[in-house]
Amino acid sequence: MKIDVFTLFPGWFEFFEGQRHVRNAVELGHELTVVDLRSTTPLRAGQVDDTPYGGGAGMVLRVDVVEAALRVRWDTDPVEGRGSRRVVALSASGRPFDDALASELAGEDEVALLCGRYEGFDERVHEHLATDVVSIGPYVLAGGELAAMVVCDAVLRKLPGALGHESSAVEESFSPALGGAPEYPQYTRPADWRGHGVPAVLSSGDHARVRAWRLEQSRQRADSG
Ligand SMILES: C[S@@+](CC[C@H](N)C(=O)[O-])C[C@H]1O[C@@H](n2cnc3c(N)ncnc32)[C@H](O)[C@@H]1O
Repeated sequence: MKIDVFTLFPGWFEFFEGQRHVRNAVELGHELTVVDLRSTTPLRAGQVDDTPYGGGAGMVLRVDVVEAALRVRWDTDPVEGRGSRRVVALSASGRPFDDALASELAGEDEVALLCGRYEGFDERVHEHLATDVVSIGPYVLAGGELAAMVVCDAVLRKLPGALGHESSAVEESFSPALGGAPEYPQYTRPADWRGHGVPAVLSSGDHARVRAWRLEQSRQRADSG
């Protein structure tokens, strides 16, 4: 798949791009491209934002600036071409990001992530350029870069081969394999740590009992969550 990230701060992604599962995905033929919104602005002196109509604090990211960035990147009118790829605008007031949406995006050929800054995007970005407006949680970040990395991370690790050990992403929290429930508790050595042991069933060698215990723990976590 191809992921294009549009941001005013491309440097934020340098560390992320170097991470193992991201490099694995790229080596497998997937693409992650970070585009500087400022590099294609049609305004003078690199301007990308403006004061809000109606007054108020802060600056708003202009719709024509975002349009120009998408047009240059894809060599097509992003309004007419809307729907040919998923364009996700990151916003605190968007649809909550969850595992189901991560799986959905992982099944797409092309996904774009729009990172806001300042007071966020002109609403017409959401209405006419984006296909989705997505929030990573009910709190406000300084910018969409961390949110884009959260989305990228959750999506990329679902791509076959990205993790290097395929079973990891199959049975984990919120996956269909656990009926959408949180994962069960995991333990490793030492068997005794400061008097805190490990549930005996996990050392029993009885795979059916281990499986039943894990599913029950997972269910209990879902019920208490
Ligand atoms: C300072 S925030 C803008 C906050 C906006 N004025 C509001 O009250 O919702 C700047 C940018 O950070 C990103 N952002 C902040 N919180 C986010 C969240 N919870 N999920 C996704 N993106 C977020 C968005 O891209 C947003 O445009």
